[in-house]
Amino acid sequence: MVNKIKSMKAIQYLVISFVLFCVACNNSTENKNEQKETETNNMKAGITEKPFGTFEQKPVTEYTISNANGMQVSAINYGGAVTKIITPDKNGTMGDVVTGFESLDGFLQKGVPYFGALIGRYGNRIGKAKFTLDGKTYTLPANNSGNSLHGGDKGFDKVYWNIDKQGDSSLKLTYQSKDGEQGYPGNLNVEVIYTLTADNSLKIDYTATTDKATPVNLTNHSYFNLSAGKDSTILNHELELNADNYTPADDLLIPTGKIATVKGGLMDFTTPKMIGKDLESVNAGFGKRGFDHNWVLNKSGNALEKAAALYEPNSGRYMEVYTTEPGIQFYSGNFLDGTLTNTKNGQKYVKNGALCLETQHFPDSPNQPTFPNTILKPGETYKQTTIYKFSVKK
Ligand code: GLA
Repeated sequence: MVNKIKSMKAIQYLVISFVLFCVACNNSTENKNEQKETETNNMKAGITEKPFGTFEQKPVTEYTISNANGMQVSAINYGGAVTKIITPDKNGTMGDVVTGFESLDGFLQKGVPYFGALIGRYGNRIGKAKFTLDGKTYTLPANNSGNSLHGGDKGFDKVYWNIDKQGDSSLKLTYQSKDGEQGYPGNLNVEVIYTLTADNSLKIDYTATTDKATPVNLTNHSYFNLSAGKDSTILNHELELNADNYTPADDLLIPTGKIATVKGGLMDFTTPKMIGKDLESVNAGFGKRGFDHNWVLNKSGNALEKAAALYEPNSGRYMEVYTTEPGIQFYSGNFLDGTLTNTKNGQKYVKNGALCLETQHFPDSPNQPTFPNTILKPGETYKQTTIYKFSVKK
């Protein structure tokens, strides 16, 4: 009898254990499914395409890269321009932090100041629109008060870039610049890769090769306003630049050749400073007040290092800039005047409505023997990497 009871208890125990085991199994499967569902919901990662217009008989497409956090970066064939950067604010609300247009017509209107574009063959200014290389003098389009700006009349911002998708987070843009194009020597093959990373960074990798010695200085001309349209200017943004020096320039923004300290002066952004604080006291050339200068980054060599950090207190958005380049042009949007049409959401891009942080070699380097070299020779590969990393500070 005692034995019978014992074996019944053992059976009961086994049954209960089995049932509990099954419940546990089931729960864990359910949890996994839930997790998967959430993962799938968040997994909008990938690249989509949308027609954007036609340029020189070729279709212009807007490619949008999304990552698993919902951040998006868009770019088009025309000028290789970045058309959107959508990032979360401190409450998780998404917003577009760069200037741009609804369609290609916007980009093709007169006087577009390089919104989002790739800049080349030589970003920034070359004095008197001339340089001498291996004993030969080359003349460039004088498109900026007698000097040559951003590669001339039809720089890389106004050409058609081929775009190929690479995996689900990168776009490869290529352009072949012909020997003699805009006055520059050598056939230059340029490749730019835009990558949106899992940590909310837009990484831009540039490479170029040539068949004749030529100056090369590539950059991107995105205009940022981290309020994403909530604040019409960037005057309340705080900027930090990892630069103890800058290159003073004349009234047409051609460097004098000197390297000057920023310490304690109006150009000092070595600790975060509100952009509006000293803006009206600074001569930005061309009779303007504001910033439009090249800062000399605190670095030696071409390691990828932090160059700048930008913070917008209301949204909490924070953007860090890392680069392999020796300089950065901080331009406070002094020429914006609210007249551009076809803008995204009809926004008015007013004076100081957005700012640029153009990582670069120093302006006019081909005419300034003491500045870091910008001449690319056959057999060499030009390389530059810049990262714009987005996060929030609460
Ligand atoms: C660069 C220049 C500025 C201005 C803008 C475009 O940042 O340094 O002077 O030409 O491009 O308007």
